[in-house]
Amino acid sequence: MDSDDALELPSGFRLGVSTSAYQTEGAAGDRGESIWDGFLARSRLPVAAWSVATDHLRRLEEDLDLAAGLGVTAYRFSLSWPRLMPEGRGRPRREALALYDRMLDAVLERGLEPWPCLYHWDLPRAMQERGGWAERDTAYYLADHAEVVGELAAGRARRVFVMNEPNVHAVLGHLAGRHAPGLTDPSAFLGAVHHQNLATGLAVARLREAAPNVELGTILSLQPCLPAAEGEEHELAAELADAVYNRAFLDPLFGRGYPEPLADMLAGHVEDGDLDELSRPLDVLGVNYYTRLRVRADAASPVGLALADPPPASEVTAMGWEVYPRGLYDVLMRLREDYGGPRVVVTECGAAFPDEPDAAGRVDDERRARFVVAHLRAALAARAAGCDLDGFLVWTLVDNLEWTDGFAHRFGLVRLVPETLERVPKRSYAVLREVAASGAVPPPEAVTELA
Ligand code: FCB
Repeated sequence: MDSDDALELPSGFRLGVSTSAYQTEGAAGDRGESIWDGFLARSRLPVAAWSVATDHLRRLEEDLDLAAGLGVTAYRFSLSWPRLMPEGRGRPRREALALYDRMLDAVLERGLEPWPCLYHWDLPRAMQERGGWAERDTAYYLADHAEVVGELAAGRARRVFVMNEPNVHAVLGHLAGRHAPGLTDPSAFLGAVHHQNLATGLAVARLREAAPNVELGTILSLQPCLPAAEGEEHELAAELADAVYNRAFLDPLFGRGYPEPLADMLAGHVEDGDLDELSRPLDVLGVNYYTRLRVRADAASPVGLALADPPPASEVTAMGWEVYPRGLYDVLMRLREDYGGPRVVVTECGAAFPDEPDAAGRVDDERRARFVVAHLRAALAARAAGCDLDGFLVWTLVDNLEWTDGFAHRFGLVRLVPETLERVPKRSYAVLREVAASGAVPPPEAVTELA
């Protein structure tokens, strides 16, 4: 996988950046409540964290100019369901339709391809009150939202994605209680797995009608799950983590039904015809990648396993995540080897580091630049080995609301000055721009020579 040469970007390969509505938009007064509002309030984040966020809606033009200034092809963003439908159902709000209509045009005017995503974790609170993802109905309401987005996107978006990381939403939001809606309920977790999968199929059917010439995809966070120690119990623990995190979403999507032990546990939720519904063919699978999981058996844990720390001496990001580009190569090759080689695109990859601005407010984030370049090279290596990969999007453009971490962990290529919300491009921004302009991806050690 490694070489000292610069790698060439293949022709037609798309670079881009990814963002999401809840983490950037602000203007919370102009939408219905999201499950995140109350959850973050309980986590004691200041109201401004989500009511203003990065103030993106008021600075839309400036932010899109920054995205276009990178010289990349694709711009991924999400549409807020509670902004379009405050109660999660019924007629969409006219102001919200006009807003996203303008957003699509503003992206296109800058020569970028809009890649909207329907659902990036911000369920309308009213839907949660009706049971949220634990309830089957939520899948049908999501499909109605999909139709609204499909009508907006038709003829303009290049690609539309249905879900963002339903696996993370199910595990962290419904089992671990670390994300909204903050549940630690195995039965809600199982519902969230199946109903999000079902929603994907239902939404794809509606989008095909509403936006016939748009490529459709959905997005999973994929992580290799490896045993952290020798011994059969650790291997089994890693397999279980893989089944829950990766395969509970990949297997049914590719027509194989649910893996054990989930198949038995989900039997009560799966109705006749569901497995066909949720395996409707997609044009592209979005893969988000950040790190790998090291898993060990742990009898004291209710699920029988625990995550181990990164190996000593490994480089870790501010999130505590091991920097492990090889894992991206491995998950992409797994899609080729085990799932029939679908068309894929990396829809998120990036890193938080404790950026320190210099006296002039500039951030020399060489580590982030090296991270991006190393992972882009791993993705290109998988492509060269036969993975049908056609793009790589960095998470994210401007430092934004990192969910419960607020603004403490910053992933942007562009610094958000906390007091003024001013945007200041970091070194990594210049590096990505240089890569896009030259079409050459240098080895990570050489980024200092780039920009
Ligand atoms: C992903 C999410 C995204 C962002 C990154 C760091 O799991 O999709 O919203 O928070 O992690």
